[in-house]
Amino acid sequence: MNSTPVALPDLTGTTAVVTGANSGLGLETARALARIGARVVLAVRDEDRGRAAAADIPGETEVRRLDLADLSSVRAFAGGWSGDIHLLINNAGIMAVPRSRTADGFELQFGTNHLGHFALTNLLLEHVTGRVVTLSSGLHASVRGIRFDDVDLERGYTPYRAYGQSKLANLLFTLELQRRLTEVGSPVLSVAAHPGYAATNLQSHGASAVFRTLLTGIGNRLFAQSAAAGALPTIYAATQDMPPAGFAGPRGAGGMRGAPGLSWRSSAAEDEDAARRLWELSEERTGVSFPLKG
Ligand SMILES: NC(=O)c1ccc[n+]([C@@H]2O[C@H](COP(=O)([O-])OP(=O)(O)OC[C@H]3O[C@@H](n4cnc5c(N)ncnc54)[C@H](OP(=O)(O)O)[C@@H]3O)[C@@H](O)[C@H]2O)c1
Repeated sequence: MNSTPVALPDLTGTTAVVTGANSGLGLETARALARIGARVVLAVRDEDRGRAAAADIPGETEVRRLDLADLSSVRAFAGGWSGDIHLLINNAGIMAVPRSRTADGFELQFGTNHLGHFALTNLLLEHVTGRVVTLSSGLHASVRGIRFDDVDLERGYTPYRAYGQSKLANLLFTLELQRRLTEVGSPVLSVAAHPGYAATNLQSHGASAVFRTLLTGIGNRLFAQSAAAGALPTIYAATQDMPPAGFAGPRGAGGMRGAPGLSWRSSAAEDEDAARRLWELSEERTGVSFPLKG
């Protein structure tokens, strides 16, 4: 966080897991955490791309395969884990892709961005000693709530509606995870972050050619901040003083860019009943439950 005055801790001797660490914000997050001493595990769906990214990160790294759109892969990743995780960074994501499904039949954006991370977090939680940081987006506020009666959007899929719902789910997950951690007396913190608008590969997979062209061709060049700047809220959420279930984001340009701090969230993202309901739905869908006891 070179451009901001906050002090970063020395993470030597700790391990961080970063999902989607081969590109964009995940790569910059991995780089920043390795720079301050963490051993960083790049959890990626393509190990070759992961190794190429790791080669560009000075510090201790390891590449492991994780496909969040396939629960068997999530289970294999978690099942192969041993040792403490100081930081679990739920970063990977897809945005506004054409209608599709995960290997387990879930709507692809909800399945990847939310359900995959839900399962991963709960399966790894007994190893986590520090924080779980989950990436959301300002676009969480583009939807008014989770469509509990049609979470796969069978009756009206639009790519941005699905993205907004998945990013709202990321914040509700953060809230309910924190509530459960507090209830059992766990010292682990559940927090969230968003990057504002950062130029990454995210905008290049969208369903609409018009949006793709506008975002990658014009928006990314003129308005977006760099991926390294976009990763600062994640690093902030991972290392700075954060309230339980706090949400970090850029403080400038209406939350689109600039130095990180605490961010605004919609009232739908503070709905504790929706957070519990989403948790129950996610348990049913994934077959994974909160593992800690008081
Ligand atoms: N960039 C922005 O302006 C912005 C704004 C708000 C929120 N965000 C959030 O920031 C996070 C990171 O996105 P980014 O901007 O860095 O985009 P990105 O450059 O496209 O990176 C996304 C990462 O997620 C990985 N991924 C996608 N599907 C996966 C799966 N099924 N299993 C495992 N990994 C998977 C990608 O792997 P591959 O390389 O194999 O595809 C890639 O490493 C996302 O959660 C996104 O919603 C970004």
